[in-house]
Amino acid sequence: MARVFVSYQQEDRDRAEPIVEALKRAGVEVWWDPSIQPGAEFSEEITTALADAAAVLVLWSAHSVGSRWVKDEAERGAERRVLVPARIDAVQPPMGFRQFQTLDLSSWNGDADNPAFQRLLATLRTLLAGIGRAQPMRARASGEVGIGVAVFGGRYVLVKVAGETAKCVVYKSWDRKEQRYVALKVPRTMRVAQAAAQVRHEARSALGVNHPNVCGILEARVSLIKQLSAWFRPRTVGQAGGETEVFGGRMQEIGERISAFLVMPFLEGRTLDVEAFDRRGQPIAVKSAVDILAQACAGLQHIHDRGIVFRDVKLENIMLVPAGGTHRLAVVFDFDMALPQGSVPKGGLATGDMVAGTPQFVSPEQVRGGPLDHRSDIYQLGLVAYEVLTGSLPFAGGTDQETMLARLTEHPVHPKERRGDLPDGLATTILKCLEPEPAARFPSMKDLEVALRGSLVDE
Ligand SMILES: Nc1ncnc2c1ncn2[C@@H]1O[C@H](COP(=O)(O)OP(=O)(O)O)[C@@H](O)[C@H]1O
Ligand SMILES: [Mg+2]
Repeated sequence: MARVFVSYQQEDRDRAEPIVEALKRAGVEVWWDPSIQPGAEFSEEITTALADAAAVLVLWSAHSVGSRWVKDEAERGAERRVLVPARIDAVQPPMGFRQFQTLDLSSWNGDADNPAFQRLLATLRTLLAGIGRAQPMRARASGEVGIGVAVFGGRYVLVKVAGETAKCVVYKSWDRKEQRYVALKVPRTMRVAQAAAQVRHEARSALGVNHPNVCGILEARVSLIKQLSAWFRPRTVGQAGGETEVFGGRMQEIGERISAFLVMPFLEGRTLDVEAFDRRGQPIAVKSAVDILAQACAGLQHIHDRGIVFRDVKLENIMLVPAGGTHRLAVVFDFDMALPQGSVPKGGLATGDMVAGTPQFVSPEQVRGGPLDHRSDIYQLGLVAYEVLTGSLPFAGGTDQETMLARLTEHPVHPKERRGDLPDGLATTILKCLEPEPAARFPSMKDLEVALRGSLVDE
């Protein structure tokens, strides 16, 4: 069915509605969540509507740029090349969506003749007609088409962007030698020495890691990235299907540069910050959450056995990979912050410098500054467990400084106050991870894993 899926954040409902209504008046068929019939299975309906949509209109705003749901829906739209981003206030689209041209509806007054609205309508109609907006192939002489290809170190062919942050871009790539997909993590900096230092630092902690619940690093390289253009002459074969056969081709080098990058196994999944909540923002079932957390413990135990503190346990650094049936493998990745046990990282109250890491997910000893051991990761896993099981973090709100300092001075809100049906044993386990004194926590990830799994058996 040719219709437009509208992705927005609940707080923007009053801004979204006039857009939806104006589109409907212009004859566009729109699906948005108020279209759900009472009693229908909420998340299932959304998934189906999203998969069927001919266009995904995303309304970026100060509210929606922080929404996992809107970002996830935008990503699915982008994957299918049917994303139409618009902004309804002065906000910048989130990281990963800035390369898309964004329509500006921030000063739209509801007038159907407004140029910005007309542009939106035209874009949507192109997609609804099945013409498609994305044209990755550029036509050249005599019916040839060209595509850009980047080859890293003569071996890895870039396929697509798998994820990006302020510091790096991760590409899904094809390893020509081993004939498999890998992930390449490339620092954003153009300064080769800096990129190389970053990559070596990460590789030192992760090379040789070998555990199903940890994403190790296959190699760290400093080498040539070649930018190529390939030109082909496509020929249409098959009468009814109109399939295209590509034959005859030539390559042309259009640029090269040196960079450092990491090669990792490719994880085909989604991160826990997306997967831990359903589309209404409700936490997933306790049983699945405990299984995921216990797997993360097993992975982190392996890292600790190698004398490394991971230092960056958070939802964004745990990938869930479908592993047959409803089972999902939880994989800890991103050794960017990892350090040898007992190291004294820079930053913290002791030195007055900035604390490295995500303010919501730091341990008290990271805030104070001073030596860290594996029990800092246990604290961080407690925060992850708290959020995944209750839907919110114990110390959050206020400024980053307040968020960090709260864990030195305040007790976490009891998890059962946030989610009444949480098993008692599980609440106790979470609170034990969150003890301010490392000695009062679980002595090891193995012990925590056992406690997590045990807290369900007792119910
Ligand atoms: N091995 C991998 N396989 C697939 N995707 C990955 C892999 N490693 C990272 N990514 C994607 O890239 C994003 C950023 O990677 P990450 O290592 O967390 O970067 P940073 O160190 O900047 O936090 C991740 O959120 C994820 O979506
Ligand atoms: Mg990360």
